Amino acid sequence: MTDLIPLETDLAAQIAAAGDLAALEAVRVSALGKTGAISALLKSLGGMSPDERREQGPLINGLRDRATALIADRRAALDAAALEAQLAAEAVDLTLPAPPRRRGAVHPTMQVMDEMVAIFAEMGFSVAEGPDIEDDFHNFTGLNFPPKHPAREMHDTFFFNEREDGERKLLRTHTSPIQVRVMQRANAPTGAPQFAAGQEPPIRIIGPGRTYRCDSDRTHTPMFHQMEGLVINRAIHMGHLKWTLDTFCRRFFETDAVVTRFRPHHFPFTEPSAEMDVQCDRSGGAIKIGEGSDWLEILGGGMVHPNILRTCGLDPDEWQGFAFGLGIDRLGMLKYGMPDLRDVFAADVRWLQHYGFSAFSAPNPASGLS
Ligand code: PHE
Repeated sequence: MTDLIPLETDLAAQIAAAGDLAALEAVRVSALGKTGAISALLKSLGGMSPDERREQGPLINGLRDRATALIADRRAALDAAALEAQLAAEAVDLTLPAPPRRRGAVHPTMQVMDEMVAIFAEMGFSVAEGPDIEDDFHNFTGLNFPPKHPAREMHDTFFFNEREDGERKLLRTHTSPIQVRVMQRANAPTGAPQFAAGQEPPIRIIGPGRTYRCDSDRTHTPMFHQMEGLVINRAIHMGHLKWTLDTFCRRFFETDAVVTRFRPHHFPFTEPSAEMDVQCDRSGGAIKIGEGSDWLEILGGGMVHPNILRTCGLDPDEWQGFAFGLGIDRLGMLKYGMPDLRDVFAADVRWLQHYGFSAFSAPNPASGLS
């Protein structure tokens, strides 16, 4: 008859010494596995006499139960220790400052465009668009440019190569082609594709977009943005144009202090024509409006030339209108104090972070956007 006490002592010591789950499992197999020590004892019960079995049975079963319980306890302890170790290793110190995260910003030109659209929308204008790649008719001829006008020359206009059929496309030099496209649609037979809602005269549209000219200095870049404006109705006059633009400027610059001036000018597609300047100070590197002795030209405008109306199938005796073309980037320079237009398109991340707008910031009260 085996003395069970040394076996139990030995087992208990092995269980306590098992440093991880694998070692513990090895001890379990050595005692309780198919060929384990305790399993062998249990099997030996079968060969005992009834008296021996009555005596040994409870002892061996007791040993098996205690060993099983010890192993379970040890396993729980090892599991808890492993979890503790993992928690300690993966601890996150929430008081540490977070690493800086780079966030994109809304480009000032896009912000300004949104603000402008919102202000004109409040005045009842809807938005029209036209293609960046234009043809000669919409960019020049339909706008009353004489055949030898200097703006057609290579030094001003980016032309594409001539096609086989002789047509030479170009990058639009202004947003005024949108005027022609909208007025032609206005007069198109019913069922023709429309640009925007309500294009039958009266027309009241703005047309924002990219424009291109071969030019580069502090206030000129080869690609820039304009917003065309066109109003066609009966009995429209120059006073409407001036009121619209002055009202726009006060809303846009969020001050009544803005000083504007209209200078007589010439455009082939308006008569009379004018340019509008905004008074500003550019002496200190930054740019400030409402003070100083500098003037920055921000738009051209005038009364739509009767030839344009006729070209687009509108009777000048019935319909009159005004048109204007605003420099979007120029307005942004003035409002947000950006001294050099070339920076606006240089894609310098530091500049964009400085002048950019958060997409999630509270809406600009002047913009009416929400
Ligand atoms: N298209 C002109 C320009 O780019 C501006 C303009 C628009 C003038 C509409 C008159 C009417 O300079």
